[in-house]
Amino acid sequence: MPTILVTGGAGYIGSHTRYFLQQRGYRVVVLDSLERGFREAVPNEILHVLDLRNTETIAMLLKTEKVDAAIHFAGYISVGESTKDPEKYFVNNVSGSLSLFEAMLHADVRKLVFSSTAAAYGVPDHVPIREDQPFAPINPYGESKVMVEKILGWMDKYQDFRSVRLRYFNACGAEPEAGLGERHDPETHLIPLLLTAVQTGKPITLFGDDYPTPDGTCIRDYIHVSDLAAAHIYAVEYLLNAGASDVFNVGTGVGASVKEVLEAVERVTGKPVPFTMGPRREGDPPSLVADSTKLQTKLGWKPQRAELDRIISDAWQFAQSLKTS
Ligand SMILES: NC(=O)c1ccc[n+]([C@@H]2O[C@H](COP(=O)([O-])OP(=O)(O)OC[C@H]3O[C@@H](n4cnc5c(N)ncnc54)[C@H](O)[C@@H]3O)[C@@H](O)[C@H]2O)c1
Repeated sequence: MPTILVTGGAGYIGSHTRYFLQQRGYRVVVLDSLERGFREAVPNEILHVLDLRNTETIAMLLKTEKVDAAIHFAGYISVGESTKDPEKYFVNNVSGSLSLFEAMLHADVRKLVFSSTAAAYGVPDHVPIREDQPFAPINPYGESKVMVEKILGWMDKYQDFRSVRLRYFNACGAEPEAGLGERHDPETHLIPLLLTAVQTGKPITLFGDDYPTPDGTCIRDYIHVSDLAAAHIYAVEYLLNAGASDVFNVGTGVGASVKEVLEAVERVTGKPVPFTMGPRREGDPPSLVADSTKLQTKLGWKPQRAELDRIISDAWQFAQSLKTS
């Protein structure tokens, strides 16, 4: 079986993808600085604690491990942080990616799956969003991903470097049986924040209920992290089978409002969520829902755990295991 490098494999989505790659029989090598990831999310023997910017060491690692393709998750992910410190985001997400690409070219590894984001679309003209909507990021985080997507386009054209760019919507859920789940620090994502509010009794502030949506709160497309991990496996297999560079949205195609997610959390946990309703947050589009038809028809991917209650139940199981460990 081929060997796959997973950058950011100690983080949330990377750790799940690493797990499913191994389940499917792939040899996996993980590269992570551990700045924002967790050592225990990766088996020790495959973890290389290394920053993306160590080009030469990464090139050596790719050669000695005979890596066939890379899945690149490593980067910073917080929109809010990116507006406070844009330079930090461009250095890590853009320079860091360039360093990895340079190492890959040195080692003649020319297949890459890249973590892009719905933030590349900004406030979209049409929902559900198709891949052909133009780039229109409204924050440095989204811009950093767009820059890398464009670099990959040029590398495809002139350096035979093939990539699949996956634009994900809201990753959520967990794989509690594998001891894996969402643990960002600080956490900015809705579902883990709602679950923490249930566990601690401290109210969560929700950002606005005066949007032009049926219940006034923002609508997002929540995609189970294990379905997302599966999309990466489809994408890397497509590249290993000589597929051309391409871009795909990854979402369920069904939106849920903040209030609907809150109600689902109350249903699953059997407890009320303490919350206060705050004003709108700058830069939040009313609705972001993916059209993933292309991924389904071209690569045969289909979400298996799209129901909100299932997503929350997995996340809740993981959150409880953290509390007791
Ligand atoms: N979580 C989401 O909902 C979401 C949505 C769209 C896109 N994405 C993208 O998916 C990817 C993974 O997201 P996540 O939620 O798993 O994030 P995460 O923070 O849990 O994982 C990122 C990992 O990358 C590592 N890392 C960061 N910079 C590094 C560097 N310079 N060198 C080596 N390792 C480094 C961190 O230590 C961490 O383990 C990111 O690129 C993110 O932009 C995430």
